[in-house]
Amino acid sequence: MTSTLFTNIGELRTVSERGTLNDAAIVAEDGVITWIGEAAKAPEADRAEDLGGAAVLPGWVDSHTHMVFDGNRAEEFEARMSGGEYAAGGIAVTMEATRSAGAERLDELVAGRVAAARAGGTTTLETKTGYGLDTASEKQAAEIAGRHVDEVTFLGAHLVPPGADAGEYVDLVCGEMLDAVAPHVGWIDVFCERGAFDEDQSRRVIEAGKAKGLGVRVHGNQLGEGPGVSLAVNYDAASVDHVNFLTDADVEALAASKTVATILPACDLSTRMPLAPARRLIDAGATVAIASNLNPGTSYTSSMNFCVTTAVLQQHLSLDEAIAAGTHGGAVALRRQNVGDGRDSQGRPAVGTLVEGAAANLHVLRSATAIDLAYRPGMPVTAATYLAGERVA
Ligand code: NIG
Repeated sequence: MTSTLFTNIGELRTVSERGTLNDAAIVAEDGVITWIGEAAKAPEADRAEDLGGAAVLPGWVDSHTHMVFDGNRAEEFEARMSGGEYAAGGIAVTMEATRSAGAERLDELVAGRVAAARAGGTTTLETKTGYGLDTASEKQAAEIAGRHVDEVTFLGAHLVPPGADAGEYVDLVCGEMLDAVAPHVGWIDVFCERGAFDEDQSRRVIEAGKAKGLGVRVHGNQLGEGPGVSLAVNYDAASVDHVNFLTDADVEALAASKTVATILPACDLSTRMPLAPARRLIDAGATVAIASNLNPGTSYTSSMNFCVTTAVLQQHLSLDEAIAAGTHGGAVALRRQNVGDGRDSQGRPAVGTLVEGAAANLHVLRSATAIDLAYRPGMPVTAATYLAGERVA
């Protein structure tokens, strides 16, 4: 085991009760943080990395992506920028491209997308199936995702494939497809929205997933008010994602629950939807996560820097709140947050925080202060990314 001292950290945002430390250092051993404190008091280590006075924060925890796809929907996007509307039906275009891609190509595409996310400071990733929409393609997507990311979600209930009967398709998702995919995933998700799955269908999908021991997540309230949030809260979902259109009752329910409200700012901009009411959610006491929602239809970016910047500039979060939402919030949405001694509820090194016992996942900025994320929007702010103590970008 080799220990590494990361020293000369100008501003260390721990995203923990220790807050922000200046002139700080971290020691990591075997992928885990073993010491944090003033650089002048740091213990010796086998090797040292001088971070040159940079600001350091936990690696981003991107808790909502759709990485397993081929093709793009640039024409659909361009038409939307000329006044068109987003509709769920576009998912079928990506389904066709994904089904015909082949496993090897999809694997390469996902590897490239993970590398791009790492280059932007992301160290923990969730991704979903949902562009296969038949048993073999969904299983393949889950297997590929499992080779590249930390958490995999089954989203067979993304769209009823063109030509299929909705009832029969839900039967398939809850039966044969779930049986085939469940061994490769930890979560089930449903796109509970007009044009996708209604409340009863969503309920069936969630119950089938729960019966298999999967955690629950829901795509909800993206295109209008609807039952997504209440379903998610009632089923104790780890997160409900999108949350653009919320009633007061939705906000209150989220604030009184353990369900994270995941906002997807890049998606809101790319679909020209009203930005999710993150300020209102935080003020009410809900836990908010920020995620990229990387996918070819509504959010073709994995840039968490961009999403966090947008949350500050346009959704009125403070820098502290936005950084917390992109790190700790994502960790809670994946149930990987610190529940004590830097460990998550399964005893793994926690993510989204920098404390002793947690994963040594570091996002090193090019500047001495993290406010540059929002103050200098769009500038290349990430200098380096360390995953479990090893530099990956
Ligand atoms: O999270 N909203 C549903 N699913 C994706 C978009 C899917 C698509 O249009 O390809 C999302 O935005």
